[in-house]
Amino acid sequence: MRGFFAGAVVAAMCTGLALPGQVTERPIPRLVQQDGRFALMVDGAPYLILGAQANNSSDWPEMLPKVWPAIEYLHANTLEVPIYWEQFEPQEGKFDYSQMDLVLAQAREHHTRLVFLWFGTWKNGSQHYMPEWMKLQPERYFHVKNKNGEAVDSPSPFATASLAADTQAFSEFIRHLKAVDPDRTVLMVQVENETGTWGALRDYSPAAQKLFDAPVPGDVLKAMNKEPQPSAANWQAVFGSEAEVCFHAWAVATYVNKIAAAGKAIYPLPLYVNAALRDPFKGAPGSYESGGPTDNVLNIWKAVAPAIDILAPDIYLPATASYLKVLELYHRPDNALFVPETLGSASAARFFFSALGMGAIGYSPFGLDYTRLRPQFEGDNEDAKDGFLKPSAQNYRLIEPMMRDIARLNFEGKLQAVSEEEGKVSETLHFGAWDAVVSYGAVRNQAAKGNPTPLGRALVAQLNDHQFLVTGLYSRVDFLPTGAGKHRQFLRVEEGTYEEGAFKFLRILNGDQTDWGLNFSSEPEVLRVSVATY
Ligand code: DGJ
Repeated sequence: MRGFFAGAVVAAMCTGLALPGQVTERPIPRLVQQDGRFALMVDGAPYLILGAQANNSSDWPEMLPKVWPAIEYLHANTLEVPIYWEQFEPQEGKFDYSQMDLVLAQAREHHTRLVFLWFGTWKNGSQHYMPEWMKLQPERYFHVKNKNGEAVDSPSPFATASLAADTQAFSEFIRHLKAVDPDRTVLMVQVENETGTWGALRDYSPAAQKLFDAPVPGDVLKAMNKEPQPSAANWQAVFGSEAEVCFHAWAVATYVNKIAAAGKAIYPLPLYVNAALRDPFKGAPGSYESGGPTDNVLNIWKAVAPAIDILAPDIYLPATASYLKVLELYHRPDNALFVPETLGSASAARFFFSALGMGAIGYSPFGLDYTRLRPQFEGDNEDAKDGFLKPSAQNYRLIEPMMRDIARLNFEGKLQAVSEEEGKVSETLHFGAWDAVVSYGAVRNQAAKGNPTPLGRALVAQLNDHQFLVTGLYSRVDFLPTGAGKHRQFLRVEEGTYEEGAFKFLRILNGDQTDWGLNFSSEPEVLRVSVATY
């Protein structure tokens, strides 16, 4: 049974809601926080987005048949798909709901949830999804000006006409969504896409310059932990070499917040903004897209864009240290970790577990559909065609059947998950009276030496003092009592599957299957493990 329907059945049993078909209205998805941890509540219980983002030009009637089979193959429970402003408002004030209605209907047929991506004023720093009637009036819907006074390929956050038009269109989109989605197929909405500007650090138009030379607003000073300044302290005086990027972040966040707030007042779905990142170790201004929620300006975004629930990193950094650093930077007491775009490669797929280990509410590799011709995957060979989906499918095939348990255990703070790092053959997770030792590249009783390429990942959740849910891929997990002079013995290692949200016993593992720890290969395997000391 696929995630959406299974989840609905479980939720229905727990909450007394009616089953799909009978349902007219379900609770609005919401983000909750408890003891510094977050959960996305869907149908009354924590939910984990096992997402796949469609390619940019996939949300057209003739393309969707190339999207759903990929979602099916992946065992993804959520499709992230754009809503194009240019398609939605082809003429000023005339709205076309046909595509969003179509995707919604097809998502329900495929028992898949949605995250809608509002490709509005910004798409990757440009205004390429503004409708034609706007593109043809660049004086009214104007661009950022660079230092030489030339327009760059990026919308100005000071263009009040663009802001008014986007606010109206986004509000209309949200209003319609509220009307047609009582069963909450749509879980969240992304406001804009990778806001900010490439090719200039900020807007240098005379009007923007005037604001840049004016005192920094008090809320920004406070958010950035700057002492109250002498009254004349402008952006340059306060932020020095970061002045331009801080100013642009303030301007963009202020603009986006107005759009988000208007939508939220109509229908309070969780809203997020995705970030084109800077290198977390050496991201100097000019080397990244300025203005979006990069890690150095998260506090500005948090202060001036309260209508945005989550600032979410698009992680395309393949290096382990950079990837993990980004997860750490966006996992904050005031920000739920959500990875709305990332690499789906074999080497990066393990980071899904790292994200879970930092309490992520969702994860979604980019471009996972069959619309794009990939030379290396052309041809009739089904295996080859699915090659680029396989790493993500491995993760989701494993986690999707127990998604509700994983989301709940994580929200309760009982779950830890990790992935293999180069040169680190083992690591220890602490659970009260027990340590779980995760190792990589261990064969029988030989010492772990790491996998030839780091693919390992493991997840351990504490069910009670001496019982754990354990799973992973390309890794070994063992338990050690923390008490001095004690040894571990397995009381019972149950292999099972998850059906309709419940662990179903298959067999007891013993002998070769447990004598050197609990070993996970490329196949999905879930264990319920009871341990004791002797
Ligand atoms: C990040 C953007 O947010 C996506 O829409 C897409 O353009 C990818 N980059 C690259 O394919």
